[in-house]
Amino acid sequence: MAGESQNWVLMVTAQTPTNIAVIKYWGKRDETLILPVNDSISVTLDPKHLCTTTTVAVSPSFQQDRMWLNGKEISLSGGRYQNCLREIRSRACDVEDKKRGIKILKEDWGKLHLHIASYNNFPTAAGLASSAAGLACLVFALAKLMNVKEDESQLSAIARQGSGSACRSLYGGFVKWIMGKEENGSDSLAVQLADEKHWDDLVIVIAVVSARQKETSSTSGMRDTVETSLLLQHRAKEIVPKRILQMEEAIKNRDFASFARLTCTDSNQFHAVCLDTCPPIFYMNDTSHKIISIVEKWNRSEETPQVAYTFDAGPNAVLIARNRQTAALLIQRLLYYFPPNSDDLDSYIIGDKSILQDAGL
Ligand code: DP6
Repeated sequence: MAGESQNWVLMVTAQTPTNIAVIKYWGKRDETLILPVNDSISVTLDPKHLCTTTTVAVSPSFQQDRMWLNGKEISLSGGRYQNCLREIRSRACDVEDKKRGIKILKEDWGKLHLHIASYNNFPTAAGLASSAAGLACLVFALAKLMNVKEDESQLSAIARQGSGSACRSLYGGFVKWIMGKEENGSDSLAVQLADEKHWDDLVIVIAVVSARQKETSSTSGMRDTVETSLLLQHRAKEIVPKRILQMEEAIKNRDFASFARLTCTDSNQFHAVCLDTCPPIFYMNDTSHKIISIVEKWNRSEETPQVAYTFDAGPNAVLIARNRQTAALLIQRLLYYFPPNSDDLDSYIIGDKSILQDAGL
């Protein structure tokens, strides 16, 4: 390792948005490698609103690998972090900063320690896919720091080993996580179906029903589901493969009616599978159900659906409006049912601030 002094620090900062699945991943066939029982499709959110910012730093003066999440130190000893660090380190290349006289050779990376600081600009572990943004950002930032040559798809297979849904956050737009067939997981990775410009009329509004951490983590919830739910087997084998094809078609054709129907149905089936788990898992609450009723009633009263809803492992509603005008109407409706400071909702996160003006607020 060239660089006479031990005082240098080399760092990289990256920002990664979260993603919301419209065809859900729920259930693993391999827990260690994080291999899913079905393909899934997601939409990556605008980085301005829900994202993780991660700085990774390396220095000969660091004594051990350390990580801080939202300013609080967390342990890196968990297998998932270790798997990502190992995979990235094994692909590290030479790095040179000529101006500062720093050169790190490929073989030095194993001896150097890292410091990692990560911030979420949204509630952590409240069913807003914070682990997806977090692990994707970590893997991406480390890959840049260590001059890893792999492309996004190959990096997605590493992020997958940190948290399944993280593999889909390496791309913007619409993304498919292909479950793969190989036992070693080499073909279980994300591919971009369409970029962020392909269907940019869509507006995402998130009704934060609760910013509290969920009681059942996705990891343990899906483990129980795999062990006990017969409905999951039917879903994974019979339902999802067809739905994936239909969703790809809907995205390709910007067919909002099909997109909304598939998104809502898949969210409802995911929560049905949670109920079919022993003991049952309840991620949605009364407010979530009320939001579903409002949207269903609205969609039925129009010629074609106006809004899609989807709920991850928590009560928060992710609402996808067909365009800005609909998003403004949606916010007005939500405010009618859940006025500001209502006990039922914590806050709204809106895809685009100017929508508030369109809504007359
Ligand atoms: C409901 O990716 O958080 O959001 O792989 O165990 O880390 P692990 O689970 P995670 O699960 C996400 C589940 C989901 C659906 C989805 O994002 O597809």
